[in-house]
Amino acid sequence: MPLQKTNPTQTQAWKTLADHFQKTRGREMKDLFDSDPERAAKFTIRWNDFYVDYSKNRITEETLDHLLALAEEMQLKDAIEKYFSGDLINETEQRAVLHTALRAGKDTEVTVNGENVIPEVFAVKEKIKQFSEAVISGEKKGYTGKAFTDVVNIGIGGSDLGPAMVTEALKFYQNRLHVHFVSNVDGDHVHETLKNLDPETTLFVVVSKTFTTQETLSNATTIKNWFLKHASQEDVAKHFVAVSTNLPKIAEFGIADENVFPMWDWVGGRFSLWSAVGLSIALAVGHDNFEKLLKGAREMDHHFKTAGFKNNIPVVLALLGTWYNNFFNAESEAIIPYTQYLSRFSAYLQQGIMESNGKSVNRAGHRVDHQTGTIIWGEPGTNSQHAFFQLIHQGTKLIPADFIGFTQSLHGDKDHHNKLMANFFAQTEALLNGKTEEEVITELRTKNLSEEEINKLLPFKIFEGNKPTNTILVDKLTPESLGALIAMYEHKIFVQGVIWNIFSYDQWGVELGKQLASTILKDMEKTEVAGHDSSTTALLEHFRKNS
Ligand code: F6P
Repeated sequence: MPLQKTNPTQTQAWKTLADHFQKTRGREMKDLFDSDPERAAKFTIRWNDFYVDYSKNRITEETLDHLLALAEEMQLKDAIEKYFSGDLINETEQRAVLHTALRAGKDTEVTVNGENVIPEVFAVKEKIKQFSEAVISGEKKGYTGKAFTDVVNIGIGGSDLGPAMVTEALKFYQNRLHVHFVSNVDGDHVHETLKNLDPETTLFVVVSKTFTTQETLSNATTIKNWFLKHASQEDVAKHFVAVSTNLPKIAEFGIADENVFPMWDWVGGRFSLWSAVGLSIALAVGHDNFEKLLKGAREMDHHFKTAGFKNNIPVVLALLGTWYNNFFNAESEAIIPYTQYLSRFSAYLQQGIMESNGKSVNRAGHRVDHQTGTIIWGEPGTNSQHAFFQLIHQGTKLIPADFIGFTQSLHGDKDHHNKLMANFFAQTEALLNGKTEEEVITELRTKNLSEEEINKLLPFKIFEGNKPTNTILVDKLTPESLGALIAMYEHKIFVQGVIWNIFSYDQWGVELGKQLASTILKDMEKTEVAGHDSSTTALLEHFRKNS
């Protein structure tokens, strides 16, 4: 069954929220804290090793009730049921959306077109295990009999960002293999990567759900040609494996059947790291850790499916995001992990969130009359504090932010970790409280400035505060907690898509640029180009003359 097609702006809850927003928009969070000593406890969800404090948001209990009513009115419960059961909720592509089946237990039953997909999922997982263990142990060897030392993941978008983000995030757990990622069609990316690699000891994993993506096929072809300068055609079978749904295209490329790791059309590219797309992860950190990643996600799936909405982390985060996006007109959300290991996390979520919910047509095929997907950005703290935090603190835009931190560091350096986390806590407190005129004056007086100097500096040193943040504090960055964290955002995406009445699992918007690029590529070989606007024609001409 498809998802219902209610326009959220026509619901009673939306209208109530709009009224409520008008009445409460000017309220200060610090007053809300002052008037309710229980506020932090009321707006905190504790689950497994997650401590999610959302009390530093511009909400009251009444706001939350209205947001929860919106979720009810948009039939979120029913939508979650359909999401997990394999209903064809990706209507424009007539597909189920079942990345959750990839981490489901062995005895679960999930049917697609009348067939339980779980046995197939487990067969591929077994293949990943056998293969990754043989490569890591050195039992599987390259064409000259040497063990592999390096792995290159060739893919783009979901076939790159997920594995690249997780491999970086779990670097602490990494074994002896060096894993590299080639994604951009920019030849400098692939050649720079190949520069230091030895063909005798490098394994290539070509990842493309469709196996038609220009970037990936170009990079894979360039790499195969480079490899063939050193080895023979029959050695390709020892060094190239593929992950895809498109078996004929893989055969055409010359990858042997036994080296193919299948995936399915019910797994969206940006949600595919749990499938064989995660082969590079299993190679980097070992199959056991890959399984732990899946386990963490499975636990978050269970929480999302079973917890009441008020205590449901993805639901609450999604509703808060909707509150700012649709009522405060906030355009973006920052995601700030306080660990260098999560340096690719925001980039990964940019695809997950923006490719999913960057839509302007509703599920009935009409232009929406409300805002949808937010702009996602971020970098690890504390680096980001010295880069863009000025704008969050004192700029003109409202930027809700998720602060993700860990109570324990991985290398156990307490001194560094305390400094890191002191910054983590200080930032959300500063964003909440700001700094008042009186506080600035008192501070400047202690510096013995004249009254004239104080008055001059005063406006620049005031911080408005009242900037919303969520604090997501987890015990430790482990494969399990990372899996849960990723799944948490996946479900937030789903909930917001349901609320906004859009299709989150297609991505027609990336097609136009691809089509035009293939036309322009052909035009580049011509001395005279036609059919473009005057700007593009002149640019092509300039490029042709100077390249
Ligand atoms: O960017 C569009 C897109 O289709 C993504 O959704 C996908 O992750 C990426 O291209 C790569 O696609 P493929 O895995 O088919 O090569």
